[in-house]
Amino acid sequence: MAEPTTTQTGTPVASDAHSLTAGADGATALHDRYLVEKLAQFARERIPERVVHAKGGGAFGTFTVTHDVSAYTRAALFQPGAESETLLRFSSVAGEQGSPDTWRDVRGYSLKFYTTEGNYDLVGNNTPVFFIRDGIKFPDFIHSQKRLPGSGLRDADMQWDFWTLSPESAHQVTYLMGDRGLPKSWREMQGYGSHTYQWINAAGERFWVKYHFDSQQGDLRLEADEAEAIAGADADFYRRDLHDAIERGDFPKWDLSVQVMPYEDAKEYRFNPFDLTKVWPHADYPRIPVGTLELNRNPQNFFAEIEQAAFSPANTVPGIGISPDKMLMARVFSYPDAQRYRVGTNYNQLPVNAPHAAPVHNYSQDGAARYTFNAPSAPVYAPNSVGGPAASAEAAGEGAWESDGALVRSAATLHRDDDDFGQAGSLYRDVYSAESKERFHATLLGQAQAITVDDIRERFFQYWTNVDASLGAILRDGYAAASGEADAA
Ligand code: HEM
Repeated sequence: MAEPTTTQTGTPVASDAHSLTAGADGATALHDRYLVEKLAQFARERIPERVVHAKGGGAFGTFTVTHDVSAYTRAALFQPGAESETLLRFSSVAGEQGSPDTWRDVRGYSLKFYTTEGNYDLVGNNTPVFFIRDGIKFPDFIHSQKRLPGSGLRDADMQWDFWTLSPESAHQVTYLMGDRGLPKSWREMQGYGSHTYQWINAAGERFWVKYHFDSQQGDLRLEADEAEAIAGADADFYRRDLHDAIERGDFPKWDLSVQVMPYEDAKEYRFNPFDLTKVWPHADYPRIPVGTLELNRNPQNFFAEIEQAAFSPANTVPGIGISPDKMLMARVFSYPDAQRYRVGTNYNQLPVNAPHAAPVHNYSQDGAARYTFNAPSAPVYAPNSVGGPAASAEAAGEGAWESDGALVRSAATLHRDDDDFGQAGSLYRDVYSAESKERFHATLLGQAQAITVDDIRERFFQYWTNVDASLGAILRDGYAAASGEADAA
């Protein structure tokens, strides 16, 4: 015999097929409490989708340290031999829940390490740089990539209007319009912390670091027409690929390495090392291997464990800090703020967000849907004289840096090679293969044709000319030839 179906409060219910009515064809009784509970619960099943990175998927796994980097950080998760449980969520940036996985976009790579010193989150992308370098521009940037308020349509004019008026975007747009914009799968793409972070070792020495995750499956791409066909045939192509691979025991892996810059180098480096639109050339700061990440367990419940997962650059652990990157500082505020709204005040009590390998001791209490609480004898304030938890700078191992300027609104201090287009040009000229360049030209020509405002199109050509003069000429000529053909037809 099956267990009897019950209400949410555990009492058996009479029917899942028939509402309680006054006679077979009569009015429905409001006191059919199970019908009311069922409909009310249903109407509240959705929470707001993430304001960006709404479409995604993820899995749990293990991060294992393979190399000794204890000279650079005291963080327990990076000590020799350490193993940490992890959750990795992949996502697209601009599309909503349900949007096709294979639309051209940057892809999110959000990692949560459940460490013995609390949760450490690294919320990055499949590219090492970003479109802007000050968080105050982020809402404008995202508005330009999402939908027009009137028609509800995405719009090439506003995308390119924003980008061409924000030249610091050139490096990331070069990635986005290149092969990285259409990964073959989430398993077959790279991950980056993107920002510069601080590491602090046991002796208190500080370093600046950048994280790189190399896919053992390779860094592969889809052809543009293939991606378009898949978008129609299977909107959940990447989500399915990841789920199925893990189900069949084909566990994807990434090797983590870091670039480490001695603390003092940052002041005199040829460009601002905290500028998120720049990479650090490997010739200056070679990669140092750290460990391997393996995904080996699918979520049991997508909503509870992926949709309600809350990743945040604010979640650092002793021995790891942030840096004076204005984007990173804005993100430290923005993510917990978004999650209090999206999931609820006590979102960190949910099993997916609570620490798995470290205890929680503090004086927080109450709030909507509070589940955990301290013993009744525990003090509710600090400081106290009855042995409640005590904050400790030594235990926290926070990052820090020197700063003593007046409050200003300005770009960071200029370094010799700070500019908007140099690294975008090198990526195009020196990193892209001949075939990648051809695909890149075709994608950009398609974009030029999608722009309807002449002034924006002119800025588009100038933008790419600034990246590389020959690239600008190829695009202008290609556009003129295509327009000529269209006119002749
Ligand atoms: C998600 C804000 C820059 C990667 C989000 C969310 C917000 C946000 C509010 C939704 C969080 C949630 O509801 O759980 C911002 C702001 C930025 C910024 C204000 C600039 C100041 C970046 C950058 C990266 C990035 C530079 C990558 C290097 C992600 C990823 C997610 C995300 C991967 C999805 C997290 C998940 O998987 O749950 N962002 N973001 N964002 N952001 Fe950002």
